[in-house]
Amino acid sequence: MRSDQAVDDETIAPAEHLGDVISPISGGRVPRHVAVIMDGNGRWATQRGLPRRSGHRAGTENIRRVLERFGDHGVRYVTLYGFSTENWTRPESEVKAILRLLGFFLRREVNNLHKNNVHLRLAGHLEHLPERLQQQVLDALELTANNDGLTLNIAFSYGGRDEIVNAVRRLMQEGMGPDDVTEEAIRDRLFTADSPDADLIIRTGGETRISNFLLWQSAYAELYFTDAFWPDFGREDIDIALAEYGRRKRRFGGLGEDEPL
Ligand code: IPE
Ligand code: IPE
Ligand code: MG
Repeated sequence: MRSDQAVDDETIAPAEHLGDVISPISGGRVPRHVAVIMDGNGRWATQRGLPRRSGHRAGTENIRRVLERFGDHGVRYVTLYGFSTENWTRPESEVKAILRLLGFFLRREVNNLHKNNVHLRLAGHLEHLPERLQQQVLDALELTANNDGLTLNIAFSYGGRDEIVNAVRRLMQEGMGPDDVTEEAIRDRLFTADSPDADLIIRTGGETRISNFLLWQSAYAELYFTDAFWPDFGREDIDIALAEYGRRKRRFGGLGEDEPL
């Protein structure tokens, strides 16, 4: 539709999607919601002659500095993909090591996150986790529930398809009829219902695919791929990724502001 034609009052202008914030560090436009596929832990370890679990450990230890840098830039929502629904098919010893690391992360980081006003959320099914870990997660969610700083979604035992199926199931359990099934109704039942759509998805580790991450929320996300393995992905890499985001022109299917009519 051209701008000189009648415009439906309900039409959403492209600019309304933009939730960008201005970085106090670079002065550039940075995303409100960054989501990260933390890939490459195994290869990082193998390259060093270490067992894969050492890579997962190093990857877990990297989370703090990454969160701090996103926070410095003013990012409001961060989603970290730590373990997918498909990752359960890995050898039991690796799965166990990763589960233990979620516990380690919570023990080590939760107080610091709470002190920094971070609101922790789980994206995934709590009931898939071992009972002791479930309790640890619940305690962390409860502790940080009233914080109004950065929202951190931990995507663990998370799959984008599973999340959508879960949302539709919930709609049906609530007795919704066909006319009640709207984009908004589904969005409100996703694990990330409290967060806006992802503005930027970063994948480390060199693969250029989504691997079942945020299928719904990534509809108009900018994608950024880097060869760096996750344990090596540091502050400068974040600055580079955010600077690249700032150069992207987001159109949401409309015309950019500077396009000639
Ligand atoms: C990402 O690292 C962490 C998980 C998927 C749990 P990988 O374990 O996939 O590392 P690579 O891809 O084998 O190097
Ligand atoms: C994606 O990485 C999942 C996480 C980083 C948690 P994978 O290593 O599981 O993805 P694929 O198998 O290479 O697509
Ligand atoms: Mg991988």
